[in-house]
Amino acid sequence: MLRLGPVQLDSPLLLAPIAGHTDLAFRIVCREQGGVGCAYTDLLNSRAILKETSRTLDLARTNEFDQPAGMQLYGNSDDPLPEAAIWAVDHGARVIDINMGCPVDKVAKQNGGSLLLRDCGNTTMLAKRIVDAVARHTNGRVPVTAKMRLGWDPEHKVAPVLARALADIGIAAVTVHGRYTVQFFSGQADWNAIGEVVEAVPQIPIIGNGDVTEPGHVTDLMRVSGCAGVMIARGAMRTPWIFRRAKALLDTGTVGPEPTFPEKLTVVLRHLELCRLYNGEQRAAIRMRQHVAWYGKSMGHIKYIKEAIRVAPDCDTIEAILRTAQVELADVTTPSVPFSRTRRLGDDRPVPEDFDNPTCRGAESE
Ligand SMILES: Cc1cc2nc3c(=O)[nH]c(=O)nc-3n(C[C@H](O)[C@H](O)[C@H](O)COP(=O)(O)O)c2cc1C
Repeated sequence: MLRLGPVQLDSPLLLAPIAGHTDLAFRIVCREQGGVGCAYTDLLNSRAILKETSRTLDLARTNEFDQPAGMQLYGNSDDPLPEAAIWAVDHGARVIDINMGCPVDKVAKQNGGSLLLRDCGNTTMLAKRIVDAVARHTNGRVPVTAKMRLGWDPEHKVAPVLARALADIGIAAVTVHGRYTVQFFSGQADWNAIGEVVEAVPQIPIIGNGDVTEPGHVTDLMRVSGCAGVMIARGAMRTPWIFRRAKALLDTGTVGPEPTFPEKLTVVLRHLELCRLYNGEQRAAIRMRQHVAWYGKSMGHIKYIKEAIRVAPDCDTIEAILRTAQVELADVTTPSVPFSRTRRLGDDRPVPEDFDNPTCRGAESE
């Protein structure tokens, strides 16, 4: 089982920090599905945390259903990262993670995220200040971890050296996304290169990350790289039940069953419920449109449901659409192509009054 310093996890599978996606509602959705050892917040700006801006408070929010909670911070040596880490501990973080991988300009141009890969010495000193501050504040109760890419570009594969230096100063575990910064998300994650980090740093757990979209990929990544845990991002956005299914594979050698189509809709409905609870009606409607677009990628041809939700004016309408689809498609395993052809909504068309018209049914195409 995976241990992050003093924190023993029930599962070696971790929900990745995903900006704009891993709010409290989504983290709880994944946890309720089972198999999640730890789930992380979006990346949090250290200065914004200390100013307690409403957006950052919202992103950092956790509760008893979200444990153990990881909070990810970003910044550079000039930022108050040690202070922000203490703030995070005082607001519920059981694990502090330092972002060393974000490639987007907004972060990297402020010398945070991936830019930390360009000066390993400075980054190690920064990490030590955070580790020491958190250790003093918590009596060693809260581990500090780091999440990095392989390096800025293939000519600078620093992950093995940097991860080892970080282990030496007390970082409890390192997650390695098997891509370089310059790749953003293109190409394939290099699982063998993650293995090089595992070999270079035997003293702490290395968590592999990148392109795990099926339960079987978890065992593949562990076998190829020797990593002690696996972190999942986009696979969880599409299929938050991936952790449960992969955990079953790890525990029993057999992949857990894939939810049926109506079961998947139940998960989406639960997500909507939590989103309303934690974000309020207006923001929940906006967020659910985005979430449904991701869920839709794993649910067959449901274009008309996605379109209807995309133009839905509020959460009540979104809920009605989902509940109607659940009844109409109760016997469907995965809607197939003819289903999506039965109804196409243009971008500018309102949700139809007759949404539950039987012509919307996909059952006939099964
Ligand atoms: C929309 C989006 C937002 C992301 N936000 C973060 C973030 O806030 N912090 C972070 O460390 N990585 C972030 N990542 C990277 C993921 O955590 C992960 O490393 C990457 O997507 C590769 O894993 P995957 O193949 O399982 O998606 C983000 C990725 C995506 C697609």
